[in-house]
Amino acid sequence: MPDTHPPPPGYRRRPARLDDAAAIAALLTAVDATEGLDEVLGPEGVRRELSSPGFDLERDTLVALTPDEAIRAFGILWLHPTGRPTRAILWMEAHPSHLQLEPFLMGWAEARAGQGLEQAPPGSRRLRQHIEENRARRCRAVEEAGYRHVRTSVEMWRSLAEDLPAEPSPPPGIEIVPWDTPLVEGARLAANESFALHWDSVPLTPEEWQQRVCADPFFRPDLSRLAVGGGKVVALCLASVDAEQNASRGVAEIWVERVGTIPSHQRRGLATAVVAAVLRAAAGAGFTRAGLGVDQESTSNATALYERLGFRGHPSRSGLRQAPRVRALPSMVLVATLTTLPHLRSRRQQLPPGPLLPTSTCSQGPAKSARSG
Ligand SMILES: CC(C)(COP(=O)(O)OP(=O)(O)OC[C@H]1O[C@@H](n2cnc3c(N)ncnc32)[C@H](O)[C@@H]1OP(=O)(O)O)[C@@H](O)C(=O)NCCC(=O)NCCS
Repeated sequence: MPDTHPPPPGYRRRPARLDDAAAIAALLTAVDATEGLDEVLGPEGVRRELSSPGFDLERDTLVALTPDEAIRAFGILWLHPTGRPTRAILWMEAHPSHLQLEPFLMGWAEARAGQGLEQAPPGSRRLRQHIEENRARRCRAVEEAGYRHVRTSVEMWRSLAEDLPAEPSPPPGIEIVPWDTPLVEGARLAANESFALHWDSVPLTPEEWQQRVCADPFFRPDLSRLAVGGGKVVALCLASVDAEQNASRGVAEIWVERVGTIPSHQRRGLATAVVAAVLRAAAGAGFTRAGLGVDQESTSNATALYERLGFRGHPSRSGLRQAPRVRALPSMVLVATLTTLPHLRSRRQQLPPGPLLPTSTCSQGPAKSARSG
């Protein structure tokens, strides 16, 4: 069914193109100046999102333009590409002077997600947005549109300039090794197994793992570490670097993307060891701070693990230099199930309370979250 959702008068719409990346990055800067964003991608970062593998620009993106061809809003919808989607993740922003485009973007996303999730059982269809908690206006707007807050995640950092965790000493029979091509499939299996019970987790196929992790231009295999025992990957900690964002903020930061230990090997210090190894590798490569995002309600108490490794969630306690507004506040995840679509609204009452599914991601921010989830 073609999507014919019309834009408000005075605007026209079209799918995003890769050469819109600079204009979208400028729009993000404008939104950041008014509302404060967790993640302010530059042109390269936006291009990375728009060229995500398995992603259909024509179908899953939208920009709204004024008659002078200025991009005043964009929407990007990630659907799981392998034919078993149950949820879609929406990343959208409207220029502060064009907020009337927000309902249009949300309507478009619902329509598109409705098509993309057609095959999923009705109770499991979800449309998710991540909104920084400090953005009260936007939080209100999405709640009025039928979303509800289901999860809170926080970003944490630590300095790599001092007090690095000790050289990891894994349990007997386990080795901490750098990421290596022959271990790629083992790492995927370990990630899927570790995250199986994590909220909103979606296991990745070999193809998706290849596309989303191995071929990710920001992925740093040289800084990523795996724990291997008996030839099997049992724990992992993957790192990425956004050089463009680092340059614009004047920092040298790595981002810890995925940390997981398979259930049979948990509580033996393996996550502590792989994260410590990544931090030491990053410090050795000249990075001065590390950041990560964590689901506050994580049943595996990951926040405590990161705190023990020196990460702090509150900038005033962390002692790290922070750019104003940047990743300084917790962000929250809002979910609207597609049963809030007008023709299905009555089914909303049947939804189970609280989280709808057990997160496959340590990363926050709309783009990061979609990438890793
Ligand atoms: C969170 C997670 C990575 C922790 O992995 P892990 O290898 O069990 O972590 P560690 O063993 O280093 O530390 C976990 C706990 O075991 C304890 N521990 C460490 N070594 C131990 C040992 N030898 N014996 C007993 N307990 C030990 C730690 O003190 C820690 O205790 P805590 O629960 O009070 O925090 C793992 O549970 C997981 O993969 N969860 C699902 C995915 C996930 O949530 N990832 C993080 C997303 S942000």
